[in-house]
Amino acid sequence: MNSAKLATIELSYIDLGAGTPVVLLHGFPLDHTMWDAQIDALADRCRVIAPDLRGFGKSPLGNADPQRGISMERYADDVAELLEAIDIRERVVLVGFSMGGYIAWQFVRKHAKRLRALVQCDTKAKADSDEARALRLKMADHVAEWGSARVAEMTGPNMLAASSFEMNSSVVEEVRSVIERTSPAAIAAAQRGMAARPDVTSLLPTIKVPTLVVVGAEDAISPPQEMRAIADAIPGCQFVEIPEAGHMTTMENPSAVNDALLDFIKGLRIK
Ligand code: MLT
Repeated sequence: MNSAKLATIELSYIDLGAGTPVVLLHGFPLDHTMWDAQIDALADRCRVIAPDLRGFGKSPLGNADPQRGISMERYADDVAELLEAIDIRERVVLVGFSMGGYIAWQFVRKHAKRLRALVQCDTKAKADSDEARALRLKMADHVAEWGSARVAEMTGPNMLAASSFEMNSSVVEEVRSVIERTSPAAIAAAQRGMAARPDVTSLLPTIKVPTLVVVGAEDAISPPQEMRAIADAIPGCQFVEIPEAGHMTTMENPSAVNDALLDFIKGLRIK
């Protein structure tokens, strides 16, 4: 992996291939490895940048306000700083997955000039309900004593389709082990940041770049009908439902996600 020194953090990232820059933002509590299959497929025709967001994978957490955690805007600013630091001047195709999607909305809001196109996978535009926010804050308060393994037990079952538990034990194991590797401090900081994230529904009709929305047919966290409503609110947005996948589309049905991404990127008519 590469690493880049930004103003307040040193971020680790994958940088492979050449051509149109495509930036992949991972979900919670994961790291860039959730994109391994897409990195392989895209690097033949694009320059693929896949950071470990601060606190995740090989990137350090840095200073996080213990009460406020890390905002989605802060992660988005890190991505913009990373592009600056590695001298990417061309506009990028930004691909966000779930928490990475919450960050991508903030990137759209603050760094629209850097954007060529947007892909939102298995994410939400609405803020949390009071109940969901309370659950996040409970995890943030207790994860240091619980440990990350308990978080994997709590969140894992919701992340995958029932068929993955029956027939795809390697994906089940990979998801479990990446969550277990994530530090409790990073989990707490991201949960606080997600609990405080704004509702971005009013942003959707203002998005001017080509956009694709992707969702697993059995996603229990960001269900297809919710993702369809996001696609309907964005002018000209394309929508692809991935069969045989729950929330973790990129790992559960990587070839369908790769096809959706490659078709979309080809349709942009950029080399
Ligand atoms: C993710 O996959 O990033 C999480 O499900 C996001 C969330 O907790 O809302």
